[in-house]
Amino acid sequence: MKIRVLGSGAGGGFPQWNCNCHNCHRIRRGDMNGSTRTQSSIAVSTDDKNWLLFNASPDIRAQLEAFPAIQPQNGIRDTGIKAIMLIDSQIDHTTGLLMLREGKPLDIYCTEMVKQDLTTGFPLFNMLKDYCTVNHHDIPVDGSGFEIPVIADLRFYTQALKSKAPPYSPHRHDPHDGDNIGVIIEQISTGKKVFYSPGLGEIEPHVMEAMQNVDCLLVDGTFWTDDEMVTQGISHKHAREIGHLPQSGKDGMIEVLNGVKARKILIHINNTNPILDNDSPERKMLDAAGIEVAYDGLEIDL
Ligand code: MLT
Ligand code: MN
Ligand code: ZN
Repeated sequence: MKIRVLGSGAGGGFPQWNCNCHNCHRIRRGDMNGSTRTQSSIAVSTDDKNWLLFNASPDIRAQLEAFPAIQPQNGIRDTGIKAIMLIDSQIDHTTGLLMLREGKPLDIYCTEMVKQDLTTGFPLFNMLKDYCTVNHHDIPVDGSGFEIPVIADLRFYTQALKSKAPPYSPHRHDPHDGDNIGVIIEQISTGKKVFYSPGLGEIEPHVMEAMQNVDCLLVDGTFWTDDEMVTQGISHKHAREIGHLPQSGKDGMIEVLNGVKARKILIHINNTNPILDNDSPERKMLDAAGIEVAYDGLEIDL
């Protein structure tokens, strides 16, 4: 299977439009060894033609323009996007659906909880009824496998995660299974597996088991420290409080990944995170731990 990282940044992207933090300031001035990042999304295919889009970012238009394999090939209107899976209902993962309104009906795979958010608090599915329309396909959260007919040779196992529903959701402080999921994507013919989880607040036993049973991880790389946005004077919110496990410190992502054999890649990087600077000591710590940092356009062949 091929995985294309369309967007490796967290909500806001990098640089963020109104942000003057150490990273955003330097990348705008060309004064930092690093690259800009669009908001969180990947695409997966086994034939380079039919793609499953994971999450629809507000930056989707630029992401598709940067990726010829997913662009129109046949006929006057066409796309390589054959289905879409949403791992939550966050703004950075769903707003791009509006950008796809000119196309055919969207086959969207998501949990009942995500569907509820997208038909009430942020009623994108209702709005799209008057454009392309949406075919919603419910997905389990108990780890049972399912396939998506139009995406050949892949099987998906989705798991409920402890992260957070969006601030607008009635579930923000009242968590339900299915507000956030992690997905194991398995290629049936080869048995190769990847675990995709850009929002991961807590490493429950089933998450650890998933991490130990796959070939590649694409996991939450949002923040380096729990209080990163607080100490930079950006927000009063802590990483764990908004559903993201920081990388450093006790029980942080680096410690969790120690001993996991899979290829390890962090994704959904917030613009405040020092690992965006390729020359930073924090980035060197990741290098030493064998942990990669996703960038826009990264392709993984499994
Ligand atoms: C998150 O991942 O916590 C959210 O997407 C942040 C946001 O976009 O507001
Ligand atoms: Mn996000
Ligand atoms: Zn910033």
